[in-house]
Amino acid sequence: MTKLIKRSWAEPFKIKMVEPLKMTSKVDREKALKEAGFNTFLLRSEYVYIDLLTDSGTNAMSDYQWAGLMLGDEAYAGSKNFYYLWDNVKKYYGMPYLVPTHQGRAAEHMISKILIKAGDYVAGNMYFTTTRVHQELAGATFIDVIIDEAHDPQNLHPFKGNIDPQKLTDLIKKVTPKKMAYVYMAGPVNMAGGQPFSMKNLKEIGGICKKHNIQLWFDATRATENAYFIKMREKGYEKKTVSQILKEMCSHFDGIWVSAKKDLMVNIGGILATKNKHVYEEARNMVVIYEGLHTYGGLAGRDMEAMARGMEEMVSFDNIKARIGQVEYCGKQLEKYDIPMVKPFGGHAIFLDAKQFLPHLKQDVFPAQTLAAEIYADSGVRAMERGVVSAGRNQKTGEHNYPKLELVRLTFPRRVYTQAHIDVTVESIAEVYNHRKKIKGLAMIYEPKYLRFFQARFKRL
Ligand code: F0G
Repeated sequence: MTKLIKRSWAEPFKIKMVEPLKMTSKVDREKALKEAGFNTFLLRSEYVYIDLLTDSGTNAMSDYQWAGLMLGDEAYAGSKNFYYLWDNVKKYYGMPYLVPTHQGRAAEHMISKILIKAGDYVAGNMYFTTTRVHQELAGATFIDVIIDEAHDPQNLHPFKGNIDPQKLTDLIKKVTPKKMAYVYMAGPVNMAGGQPFSMKNLKEIGGICKKHNIQLWFDATRATENAYFIKMREKGYEKKTVSQILKEMCSHFDGIWVSAKKDLMVNIGGILATKNKHVYEEARNMVVIYEGLHTYGGLAGRDMEAMARGMEEMVSFDNIKARIGQVEYCGKQLEKYDIPMVKPFGGHAIFLDAKQFLPHLKQDVFPAQTLAAEIYADSGVRAMERGVVSAGRNQKTGEHNYPKLELVRLTFPRRVYTQAHIDVTVESIAEVYNHRKKIKGLAMIYEPKYLRFFQARFKRL
């Protein structure tokens, strides 16, 4: 008899309720795709079989979270759920001041308005779509100071989310510290393929910011995944809990913004939290204009209750291990078919390398957009473009921004899909890979002004 030496990553929960899915034919999907202008964001979800568009607001809440909804205190002011959420923000993120928001971009909007003056600069570890648009609308120029390894899909650096200290120092010198509105780190970095930063790098960047009196902010949307990677990969952190690592990470920042729709496993919600009393005062004043009173920020009491409870579950090692285990499982299956992907595999998603997958397509015909459309046509699996369409246009020249990474993201909602769903997804991608040479690109026939990837329309060439 062979000895069992390793146990796999099975989930620490079971299914209590199911949501039936519609099974579609190839003809149905071709029709749906045409109606959606070959943009997976414009598909009706009814026609999607396995929805890997995003992990945002698409997670399965636990029975504990659902039970919490019944305890919603829907008072206009001073809801009990708000105070519970605030206590948990202090407990898990170590930030004394909280302003709730309806989702992450609302917090990005306020922080950009508070910290940026026209003509300023913001530096960060690669851009994120909504984050950058708010920085630009507030008058800043965003500069990417992530390490070069992050732009190379094949580079196996364990912390591809790190900021390059030299790039940051050079930038501060060039533009002067006064013109640096703030520096921000996302962890893991969504657009780089879900790649984490290390605690060592964070400390170094924190030191540079302190020296020049520049605020350092944290996009902590998926911070527990970053903490998990630190635990698994960084020396000295093996024995610390995810919760301890998360708090240590946060201790190096002036404040955080969070899209609660990810780590906190809720359908809606956001957080702006800080140690900085001045920023807190400003945000508390501003939230009543854009979101709602400072004790609900555009949320129902029940939403805040689900967030507070989700926060307690998000730091569970077994939960994150199963989540990242599922992503890794998908990557390993795809590897068997030699599918080109970003490596190491990320925290929340597998990123297909569309440049390698469809090497005969120039970036002008949107390889990642094309690939996402073809995967949907094959199997009803919905993925997302993260390439030239997402990167938008240069504010000054009006040209496309051509990112080095031209990716398709297969994003895994937390606690939603089974291993068999992953197997079907892998089989479908392998099928598309088999006939990749026949695939032609797309032409953009409608382009919105902001965040064009959400609503742009295309036609097959
Ligand atoms: N920051 C990061 C790193 C994100 O991934 C997102 C959203 C936001 C901020 C904005 O938060 O959606 O609550 O307003 N990401 C989603 C995604 C949309 O699919 O990656 P939001």
